[in-house]
Amino acid sequence: MAGLVELSVQEGGIARIAIRNPPVNALGHSVRAGLIEAFDLAAADDEVRAIVLLAEGRTFPAGADIKEFGATARAPSLSDVCTRIEDCEKPVIAAIHGTALGGGLELALAAHYRIAAPDALVGLPEVTLGLLPGAGGTQRLPRLVGAAAALEMMLIGRPIDAAEASRLGLVERVADGRLRPAAFAYAQDLLASGAGPRRARDCTDGLRDPQGFQAAVAEHRARHLHSPAPAPMKIIECVEVAQLLPFDGGLAFEASAFEDCLQSEQSQALRHLFFAERRAAQVPETATAEGQGNERVAIAGGGELAASLAVACLDGGLSVILAAPSEAGLTETRDHVQQIYMQLMAQLRLPAAKQAERMARLSGGIGLSALMQADYVIAPLPHDARAARTALIPVANALPAETPLGIIAPGQAIGPLVVGCDTPGQIVGLRVAGDPHLQRLFEVVVGPASSAATVASTFKLLKHLGRVAVRQSGGRRSLADRVSAACLHAADFMLVEGATPYQVDAALVDYGFALGPYRRVDREGLEYAGTGAGVLGEALIALGWPGEATGRGYYSYDPKGGAAHEDEDTLLVLEELRREHEITPRAFTAAEIVQRCTAAMANAGAQMIEAGSALRPSDIDVAMVHGAGFPRWRGGPMMAADQAGLLKVQNTLTALTDEDPDFWSPSPLFAELIKNGQHFADLN
Ligand code: 3HC
Repeated sequence: MAGLVELSVQEGGIARIAIRNPPVNALGHSVRAGLIEAFDLAAADDEVRAIVLLAEGRTFPAGADIKEFGATARAPSLSDVCTRIEDCEKPVIAAIHGTALGGGLELALAAHYRIAAPDALVGLPEVTLGLLPGAGGTQRLPRLVGAAAALEMMLIGRPIDAAEASRLGLVERVADGRLRPAAFAYAQDLLASGAGPRRARDCTDGLRDPQGFQAAVAEHRARHLHSPAPAPMKIIECVEVAQLLPFDGGLAFEASAFEDCLQSEQSQALRHLFFAERRAAQVPETATAEGQGNERVAIAGGGELAASLAVACLDGGLSVILAAPSEAGLTETRDHVQQIYMQLMAQLRLPAAKQAERMARLSGGIGLSALMQADYVIAPLPHDARAARTALIPVANALPAETPLGIIAPGQAIGPLVVGCDTPGQIVGLRVAGDPHLQRLFEVVVGPASSAATVASTFKLLKHLGRVAVRQSGGRRSLADRVSAACLHAADFMLVEGATPYQVDAALVDYGFALGPYRRVDREGLEYAGTGAGVLGEALIALGWPGEATGRGYYSYDPKGGAAHEDEDTLLVLEELRREHEITPRAFTAAEIVQRCTAAMANAGAQMIEAGSALRPSDIDVAMVHGAGFPRWRGGPMMAADQAGLLKVQNTLTALTDEDPDFWSPSPLFAELIKNGQHFADLN
């Protein structure tokens, strides 16, 4: 069993089968083989009367081993393991702690009884990887809890807690104390009462209301009709089949649907992102420095940004000190924090009790002395470079040299900013688009002087806050903004040649972007696009731009509803531009628009990797998906380029070089990878 699965027989004839595969007990091949062996042995041992299946370490298995997907599957499959467990003639009790996810929960569903720790979470998040539960989950769960609850769990993919699982009938008991003794006591109770195996495959609880079952299937089918990935529709089909076919037929149907999903480009992209998000935290600095733990964070300065940062830290369980310049500033910032929480409660995103507990961890002080008790300090700085330095230097120089300082300085490079600070090594930049308490992505700007310890502490802090952190070095703007600017720049060329902003936006929204680039400029201002919004942006400014606030931009806005309409003046400006450039307008297809914009984005990403601003292609993907609305199921611009074929993308770029060689010339990285038969993924 290679030590990954252990079998021992306890007092009273209860076997204990324990999985030990840190960190999350993923169900890789050796674990699967070990489980089959352990169950065979336990079944054959006359002394064994019942079996408790549990896991060592921090969690019950968190699923199949995602790293194995894409390689040739090796028997036994997880579905085989589940069948082996369910077929067992002795009662099997799964003892669930931590997060029983995906194949982990499917393993528990194959057991005959389930007991969970009170703080355990269970879920089927396969859909977030473009997959479906492929070890019998789509057949067992609906039989236990009905179609509505099963579909909800599989299509949203969000785990539920033990209390909810018990309410649904997914777990029979919630431990009232320590899980393991409770699980063995449960086994003894079952033996004492003569209860035998109770198999989900034979359960009809969830099938009792055939019409309700079909209605739930129909409702979800209508909701997911236009889903870009195949997984949601396939999940719905599998659940439908659970009602229509005998169990074994349903399993076969599920296996084939799982394989289809596994092969889909969307699943490849989503699995790529799963690892990309975790890989992003592996930076050179964390290899050499431990980074200190952060329990108390101070926010230097006041205002809405400071308040939002405070909420992000409070939500992450930290104590927060607001270090405001004045009593009035402190009160104002504290009020902002309160307002954010009121809003979250009104949106039912936070129970009142939690708000009180979080506010209790908030304290404040006036001036720099308030910063001294913090393990980590975050300082939002003014946009103006000179004002930013004036604000930064006293804060940095007041701090103990070992206290890391994360500065938020939009539009500014960190190198020049820290000149004049006594210990620039303690400073890194943080870039976040929008309100920090709502954003998942933080880019960590490593300056020329930033120390490894500071960088490591920053990554530690962001991990603690549940954020996705991406490293960048140098540059005045975020990686996501720089790649977005390239998309807009490519689109601007097409506008001058004959496309409209509305066609470009429609093509990219159709591709999967949440918002087209021109609509995004209207919403966020030209700043986000930088050089990207060159010619056209300036012409629009002359027309009374910027932005939605004035009801003018690339679109006209309905002042009541905020709806966006095509704007006649914008179209007139475009005609004027084309006349100026003596261009005869031509039409662009949506495919052409997407091809150019995605090629420009991949090229910008490649240039940043070459320049060393980004560590690896997958970091660009993570930044774009979380920071610029790039469709997650396409995996980010570098993954999309890999999937489209690097030669094809390079050809698109080369064909456009006459238009603007500086912008369109393909990064040499393309030629190098193509020559070696490699992809961007090989650089990850
Ligand atoms: N397979 C392989 N590796 C996994 C894994 C999995 N299912 N789940 C986590 N890991 C790895 C991570 O890549 C990471 O590796 P690293 O340290 O080398 O970067 C390590 O385990 C720790 O993971 P996290 O950093 O994510 O740890 P957290 O404590 O933040 O989160 C977790 C733990 C909630 C379990 C989270 O890892 C998670 O959500 N995992 C994936 C769960 C999932 O999607 N399961 C379904 C898999 S598909 C499946 O089961 C198909 C089946 O139906 C046939």
